Amino acid sequence: MKHLLSAADLDLDAATLVLDTATEMAAMASREVKKLPTLRGRTVVNLFYEDSTRTRISFETAAKRLSADVINFSAKGSSVEKGESLKDTALTLQAMGIDGVVIRHPASGAPNTLSQWVDGSILNAGDGTHEHPTQALLDAYTMRSRLGQLKGLRVAIVGDVLHSRVARSNVLLLRTLGAEVTLVGPPTLVPVGVEDWPATVSYDLDSVLPGTDAVMMLRVQRERMGQAYFPSAREYSRRYGLDNRRVKLLPEHAIIMHPGPMIRGMEIAPEVADSPRSTIVEQVANGVSVRMACLYLLLGGK
Ligand code: CP
Repeated sequence: MKHLLSAADLDLDAATLVLDTATEMAAMASREVKKLPTLRGRTVVNLFYEDSTRTRISFETAAKRLSADVINFSAKGSSVEKGESLKDTALTLQAMGIDGVVIRHPASGAPNTLSQWVDGSILNAGDGTHEHPTQALLDAYTMRSRLGQLKGLRVAIVGDVLHSRVARSNVLLLRTLGAEVTLVGPPTLVPVGVEDWPATVSYDLDSVLPGTDAVMMLRVQRERMGQAYFPSAREYSRRYGLDNRRVKLLPEHAIIMHPGPMIRGMEIAPEVADSPRSTIVEQVANGVSVRMACLYLLLGGK
């Protein structure tokens, strides 16, 4: 495989290989010298047209731990602000002989388009409301390391499914890995055509939680909303927020996930986000190992 554009690019063997390779990469993180020479002499560009904290930093850390040369490109402060197109930016990168591009872009499909203009590997770090495949991989890695096998695992993805690339990639990957996904949210924030997704849909969070092994809360993406999708933040939290009362409805072994950034007090109560059952910080740490695995397999491995 040359690119990672969608979680659907991965069949069961390929997804399992990424997760197993990430386990090996994680073992290295506990060593005093956290570096491998695997990508020495390779250049990776982080091309970010949208804000990011976790994805950007963890891709940079991952590439550096594999000894790649890393160039961080942010649209803010670049010639993009003078009107330069994605194509001309891509051709500029191509001329510099880069080996891999990690791209985040507000337009769904931008990574696919970019893959037609540059010779190197393209890794989708989030495109519009479309996909965020490495987030789904790190989420699957976290579930596997906390709960064991993914086959048959019951996962609830809760909140603004409509605007969530995390939800789309998770549904695709979790189906491949044999988990059962339930999407939960207000009807206005569930996409038209969701009946064709490999997931069930519920509008009643309380009824879903008792049969859930992992609950993944999604941020309400107000920046992508041109209209009101629910009456008020308070009403949203009352119906779809994860607070201590709702946590008690979960089985004892169930874990609480969030891809970040989270809005404390909106989709998740602060005490729930900080509780021992929350894997939010662990997900960030696992992101480095998973992105090391992706870079290694696409740019340097067999
Ligand atoms: N989960 C995630 O993509 O976070 P960032 O937007 O901070 O990268």
